[in-house]
Amino acid sequence: MARRKKVYEGKAKILYEGPEPGTLVQYFKDDATAFNAQKKDVIEGKGVLNNRLSEFFMTGLAQIGVPTHFLKRLNMREQLIRSVEIIPLEIIVRNIAAGTLSTRLGLEEGTALPRPIVEFCLKDDSLGDPLVAEEHIIAFGWASQQDLDDMVALALRVNDFMSGCMMAVGIKLVDFKIEVGRVWEGDYQRLILADEISPDSCRLWDVETGQKLDKDVFRRDLGNLADAYTEVARRLGVLPSNVTHATKPTLIN
Ligand code: CDP
Repeated sequence: MARRKKVYEGKAKILYEGPEPGTLVQYFKDDATAFNAQKKDVIEGKGVLNNRLSEFFMTGLAQIGVPTHFLKRLNMREQLIRSVEIIPLEIIVRNIAAGTLSTRLGLEEGTALPRPIVEFCLKDDSLGDPLVAEEHIIAFGWASQQDLDDMVALALRVNDFMSGCMMAVGIKLVDFKIEVGRVWEGDYQRLILADEISPDSCRLWDVETGQKLDKDVFRRDLGNLADAYTEVARRLGVLPSNVTHATKPTLIN
C-alpha cells in the first residue's frame, strides 16, 4: 500500500493527506513541548488522550451548532478532519488570570477576570507567537473585520460550552487557545474551529484543590502529565474510570 503523504508536521501533531479531496488525517503525537519548544519530552499516551478529548469537545460543540473541522475518529491516534485554510492567529480566551496575562499585567494567578477576555497572537514560532491588536490584524491583512467579529463570537461560544463541561466535573476552565480556519462552500466562505481542543491548549484547575490538570504540569514540572490528562478524560466519561494510561499488559490470574 502506498504510504500516505505527510502534509505538515507540527510540535504535537502530524497532518497527512486524507482519503477524499478536502480532507486530512490528523495524527496526535506523544511529544510535549513548552516555552517555544525549548523544553521537550515524550509523554507516553498523551496523543491517545488528546485525540479522544479533542473528539469529545468538537463533537459536543458541533451538537450545539458550532462548526468544526472534526469529521470522525479513525483510530487511537488519528482523526479525519476537513482541510481548512488556517488563519495565522491563535485566539486565547481567559476567564481567570494566569500565564502570560499575569506576567504582562502583574495580576496574581487565580484572579477572576471581570469578563472573558479574548486575545489574539500571531502564529509565528520564530517570533514567539506575539500578542497582536485588532489594528495589526486588519492592517496586515491576517484577517478581515468580519473574520474578527466571527472569531470572537465563535471563541466565546466555545468558552461557554467548555466552561460548562468542565464545571460539571469539578474543573475550572482558566483559559484556552483555539485556532480557526476558512472553508469555502460554493461562493461562500466561513470560519470553522480547527486544530485541537485538549489539555495541551487549556488551563484546567480542580475546583476543590486548585490542582493543575493541564500542560502546566509539564511546563512547571508538577508531576506526571499523562496522569493529569487521564484524570480529565475519566471525569468527562471519555475513558471508563478503571482505565489508566498504563501501556504494559497486566497478567490476570
Ligand atoms: O501558556 P503560556 O503561559 O505560554 O501563555 P498564555 O498566553 O498564558 O496561554 C494562554 C492559554 O493558551 C493557555 O491555556 C495555553 O496553554 C494556551 N496556549 C497554547 O495552547 N498555545 C500557545 N502557543 C500559547 C498559549
